[in-house]
Amino acid sequence: MSDTADHEGTRRDFLYYAAGGTGAVAAAGAVWPLVNQMNPSADVKALASIRVDISGIEPGTQLTVKWLGKPVFIRRRTDEEIELARTVELSTLPDRSARNNNAPELDATDENRALDETGEWLVMMGVCTHLGCVPLGDGAGDFNGWFCPCHGSHYDTSGRIRKGPAPTNLPVPVAQFVDEETIKLG
Ligand code: FES
Repeated sequence: MSDTADHEGTRRDFLYYAAGGTGAVAAAGAVWPLVNQMNPSADVKALASIRVDISGIEPGTQLTVKWLGKPVFIRRRTDEEIELARTVELSTLPDRSARNNNAPELDATDENRALDETGEWLVMMGVCTHLGCVPLGDGAGDFNGWFCPCHGSHYDTSGRIRKGPAPTNLPVPVAQFVDEETIKLG
């Protein structure tokens, strides 16, 4: 492979990293020195983990918080939304990976994406996996979940892509309950 080809390969990988976020770190290992130069400053790093008060979120509503410069949807789902998400056949999903940074190797069943066992809480990055718009929520789109109006991507009540150009499910960030009223991101 020539130097030029090498360079192009590196550049392409880097662009993929920039568009794909931290989930692509492993794939972009070869360009780590370049990415490393772009690490956030110390004050931004201090916010790498945040705690969110969820006590005011009613069933059927969601809170959008900004974390690491990106929107995160924290939705308290209704029984109906959970049932819709859990009765979907895995084989009908365009992306069968959970895209859950808490357990990346799992498949895309709703149980593998929700934050708690009952499925009441769903936490996801609010960034369309096509080209990065912020999808509309509250039952939007053909699958009653989220809809990205930029180019027409429809996500279901589990945030999984069902129709349109987005290639993957909305990613679930590292998150956990600190107590009944607090979720920690990061
Ligand atoms: S950015 Fe969402 S469909 Fe293109």
